[in-house]
Amino acid sequence: VERVFSGVQPTGNLHLGNYLGAIVNFVKMQETHNCIYCVVDMHAITQGVDVWGGPAELARNTREVTAAFIASGIDPKKHIVFNQSQVAGHAELAWIFNCVARMGWLNRMTQFKEKAGKDRENASVGLYDYPVLMAADILLYRATLVPVGEDQKQHLELSRDIAQKFNNDFGDSIRGHGFGDGLFFPLPEPLITGPATRVMSLRDGTKKMSKSDASDYSRINLTDDADTIAQKVRKAKTDPEPLPTEEKGLEARPEADNLVGIFAALSGRAKADVLHDFGGGQFSSFKNALVDLCVTKLAPIAGEMKRLVADPGHIDAILNDGADRARAIADETMALSKDIVGFIRRR
Ligand code: AQP
Repeated sequence: VERVFSGVQPTGNLHLGNYLGAIVNFVKMQETHNCIYCVVDMHAITQGVDVWGGPAELARNTREVTAAFIASGIDPKKHIVFNQSQVAGHAELAWIFNCVARMGWLNRMTQFKEKAGKDRENASVGLYDYPVLMAADILLYRATLVPVGEDQKQHLELSRDIAQKFNNDFGDSIRGHGFGDGLFFPLPEPLITGPATRVMSLRDGTKKMSKSDASDYSRINLTDDADTIAQKVRKAKTDPEPLPTEEKGLEARPEADNLVGIFAALSGRAKADVLHDFGGGQFSSFKNALVDLCVTKLAPIAGEMKRLVADPGHIDAILNDGADRARAIADETMALSKDIVGFIRRR
């Protein structure tokens, strides 16, 4: 059985994009794979403290993402749910990979350019190095499948490059340690599938829905109540034309395309079917139906999240247990990685 790994940053405002682009797929993959789902708190601190909110907020958000995983249907007993900083191997393997990855590779990463903005000199070294830590996250468990949204595609390609270069650079040592085919790290595959791999902002259909967007009206948060969802959907940007009757009519209409896409994803139908029902009509009646659908699908998750975060001790116990099981796998990879590189380790 192939191993699945994926992570979500505890940076607050977990939104519909995270849910449809990632978490829905996490839930589905449990049926067929061994899954490891990580709250990547070490990634969360790569931007300024004003972005991640400080120690108390980080701990609160870490528990909230854990609660969202469980409320969405992830089973922490059958699979592994933990927070990254509890397993030292992530940082250790990232260091080895720092010495495998090339500056030129990292210089091409578009997410760094977007997040660092114009003031690149002032971005943290951690933000620049983010994709290397991400490669370590995945390869520490020698996972082969990584369900992510479309924005993570480039980072996954970098993970594959790092795995391949490590295997090449240390080929003889890898074979000497019993891996006859010279493949110590597998090349992980991104799984960019599911109902909505790129959910866009409700304020601007050309920008992805994002936790860090300054406007809360740009996204539907998993914790939003029914009134808030209704307000956000009703205020969502649209154009003056009625909805088209066919899917090709959504071309060059990013906001309409996004709202129809969200409706389709949440209802498990194709966009063409949604347009069959609502095409030719005004946005207002479509938006009313979309509000009802969002509330029906998200309210039970929000309710369960609320119940779970009210008992932080229970969440921490889940994270500790998950970290213990993750560490058992990670320690094995680290021991072998150290042998392969030539580090003398404690025996
Ligand atoms: N808009 C989106 N549509 C589909 N999938 C998305 N993901 C994020 N935004 C969308 C996917 O959610 C998973 C967890 O994301 P993350 O915590 O690593 O954060 P991110 O990718 O940096 O995006 P966010 O959540 O919007 O945060 P900021 O504002 O910091 O950029 C990933 O699988 C991601 O692809």
